[in-house]
Amino acid sequence: TMPVLEQCYNLMDFEHVARRVMKKTAWAYYSSGADDEITMRENHTAFHKIWFRPRILVDVENIDTSTTMLGTKTDMPFYVTATALGKLGNPEGEVLLTRGAKKHNVIQMIPTLASCSFDEIMDAAEDGQVQWLQLYVNKDREVTKRIVQHAEKRGCKGLFITVDAPQLGRREKDMRTKFQDVGSNVQSTGGSDVDRSQGAARAISSFIDPSLSWKDIPWFQSITKMPIILKGVQRVEDVIKAVEAGVQGVVLSNHGGRQLDTAPSGVEILAQVMPALRERGMQDKIEVFIDGGIRRASDIVKALCLGATGVGIGRPFLYAMSAYGLPGVDRAMQLLKDEMEMNMRLIGAAKVSELNPTLVDARSLHLH
Ligand code: FNR
Repeated sequence: TMPVLEQCYNLMDFEHVARRVMKKTAWAYYSSGADDEITMRENHTAFHKIWFRPRILVDVENIDTSTTMLGTKTDMPFYVTATALGKLGNPEGEVLLTRGAKKHNVIQMIPTLASCSFDEIMDAAEDGQVQWLQLYVNKDREVTKRIVQHAEKRGCKGLFITVDAPQLGRREKDMRTKFQDVGSNVQSTGGSDVDRSQGAARAISSFIDPSLSWKDIPWFQSITKMPIILKGVQRVEDVIKAVEAGVQGVVLSNHGGRQLDTAPSGVEILAQVMPALRERGMQDKIEVFIDGGIRRASDIVKALCLGATGVGIGRPFLYAMSAYGLPGVDRAMQLLKDEMEMNMRLIGAAKVSELNPTLVDARSLHLH
């Protein structure tokens, strides 16, 4: 028998249910990582190398989990990151994530390859709800320009350019199941039909421009006033380049372990990046986000202690949505909120601004 929603006590529980109820192709697409999935596993286990150093006898009666990301006040220091093909998990698709995010005053990043159209998702957002756009850059820059400027006009508050996917990783679980129902805003590069024999990911991604480079950043800055954030940065040197290029943020991410296998986890890079930024007096010049493997609020707290502005969470919300629809998304967010309050209370921090590096022992990470 399947657990009822009230029997899901943490984010991992949704994954176990989703695995049993989802269609095989959908499960394969959501759950797969690249190659041997070493990076995907490491994303979560990296957090186990970080230990807390809690403070005692601090007044933690009232806990405030709210924070500001890219100029937006939000109730929680996590956002729903961009994940393609929401309708594989639930016929209603990404709008369920929008509604869940609204209820908890959480920011949602809209994927280029959502199953729902961009406008459907924006329409599902209620007044004042903040959305960001994740962008795969099309070889046809006019298409890209149209998407970006339309998003800005509709009120998107951030442009997250995915930079870790000049070619889609090999997700073999996904490739083994023949993909049939695309149901997304497939962008063509003019001509060739979608090839469905290579799994969902490859079927929908052929338009992505592998020639994208640092030289293109000024062009993006010229076509939009939205803050620009590079999603998928994986080394200290590139964070420094990002500061020098004048972008507003980076997401230290390996795409949920779906791209380069044995790339490091976001939190591992974070522990190297923040000291390097401080050394150069650059720590206030850029907002640093991470994603990948965040399953507990303790993971979020650790990332914030190490200097992250916020964290993205992907698969858990997809699984919650696939298993239980909107009530699942709602409960997943509520569980995180409850865990967050408890963790902050027990670590001795009443506000997000009180989270700092002295509250964690990260010596087991690779600090260089
Ligand atoms: C993704 N991710 C992703 N990223 C992106 O920039 N564009 C995209 O279209 C997608 N699509 C996508 C689909 C699915 C099914 C997954 C699981 C992931 C990567 C995503 O934004 C994020 O980096 C990871 O999902 C974070 O890891 P967790 O939270 O899933 O472990």
